[in-house]
Amino acid sequence: MMDTDPAQAGLSDPRLARQSAQSRPPGRVAERVLIVQVDFGDLDLDEAVQEVHMLAESAGAEVAEIMTCRRDRPDVALFVGSGKAAEVAERAKALDAGLVIFNHGLSPVQQRNLEQLVHGRVIDRTSLILDIFALRAQSAEGKLQVELAQLEHLASRLIRGWTHLERQRGGIGLRGPGETQLETDRRLIGTRVKMLKERLARLARQRKTQGRARSRQGVLTISLVGYTNAGKSTLFNALTHSGAYAADQLFATLDTTVRRVWLPEAGNVVVADTVGFIRDLPHTLVEAFKATLETTTQADLLLHVIDAANPARDLQIAEVNKVLSEIGASHVPQIRVYNKCDLTAAEPGVERDAYGKITRVRLSAQTGAGLPWLRTAIAEFARPDSSGPDVSGMPFQYSSELASTPLLPDVDQ
Ligand code: GTP
Repeated sequence: MMDTDPAQAGLSDPRLARQSAQSRPPGRVAERVLIVQVDFGDLDLDEAVQEVHMLAESAGAEVAEIMTCRRDRPDVALFVGSGKAAEVAERAKALDAGLVIFNHGLSPVQQRNLEQLVHGRVIDRTSLILDIFALRAQSAEGKLQVELAQLEHLASRLIRGWTHLERQRGGIGLRGPGETQLETDRRLIGTRVKMLKERLARLARQRKTQGRARSRQGVLTISLVGYTNAGKSTLFNALTHSGAYAADQLFATLDTTVRRVWLPEAGNVVVADTVGFIRDLPHTLVEAFKATLETTTQADLLLHVIDAANPARDLQIAEVNKVLSEIGASHVPQIRVYNKCDLTAAEPGVERDAYGKITRVRLSAQTGAGLPWLRTAIAEFARPDSSGPDVSGMPFQYSSELASTPLLPDVDQ
């Protein structure tokens, strides 16, 4: 195993510095956390470390240290080896970190064993993401969806071995005779899950009726999708001139925001800004958010927003496409929007396929450079027979050379 990385990994990264000041949820005292990142050789370690740092800060944590180590595969009992686990316990104590976060999925047994060793709380990546979603949920539906996902995750953790849950208590009121605390917890969770599902189903039916009304009006519906922090809300605001919340926080947007806009090039369209995706998005969360994400499956066009300046963008594109296929949206036509081109060497522009169809747009949602190209792309999609882009008023001249210069490596398939 590799040795610990005592330097607070990634802290000098400007993205993280910017993040830390503004991301702590108001009213929450920062909880000191120790993060554990294992390198299995399948990910870019630096990127994984930066991402988990941002995730932890988005949950309101103060990152005391990120420990890294290398392994071939997870240990069945402790996820890491026993030596490393002891080291984690030691560091958590020395740093006065009340919480240890593993940036991985932990089995209930691993989590319990680690908690016993650390004498404190240990959570996994799924719990961390669920926690951020719980903090961000604004609408009644969003809150119900997050609670459902959290309860389902919790239900899977109710296992024998947590003695306080197993203890037989003489129950007054809550439980039947002979029922253990574990059974009671399961039963109560089961009842609540059923109730939440019913309420969510009711809300989904209402949403469907609204969606049908929209499609009856024959309006083109566009859904913005993308990895968290790719710039969807910024682009949404730029396209619709509205004030959707854009912030350098992960999952700033949880509820789908829908706006009808008039684009001179394309007429009336409905644009939806949706929740961002992330690697290993908890399955329970994807399930719970299915209704919200229906705007995506029913859209006429997806604008897949990509942070072109992020070195892990290829992985992020693949992750987004994975979630899209999980929610049944892989059939919806997609235009890739390479955002934040102000941070890259790429010029704003478009790329077309062999049939002349625009497949990619490079722009900066923040500066507005390249936005007319996106409008053109939408217009061409809406009216496939339209005769080329209208470039009047664009900050630069259309040139077929610019339009077809691939400034980014091909990451399609
Ligand atoms: P989630 O809600 O997490 O899904 O994020 P999002 O995809 O909606 O991203 P958001 O619009 O909140 O932007 C994330 C960060 O990127 C913010 O700090 C934006 O200011 C920044 N950003 C967005 N677009 C651009 C851009 O074109 N250039 C630069 N430099 N920064 C941008």
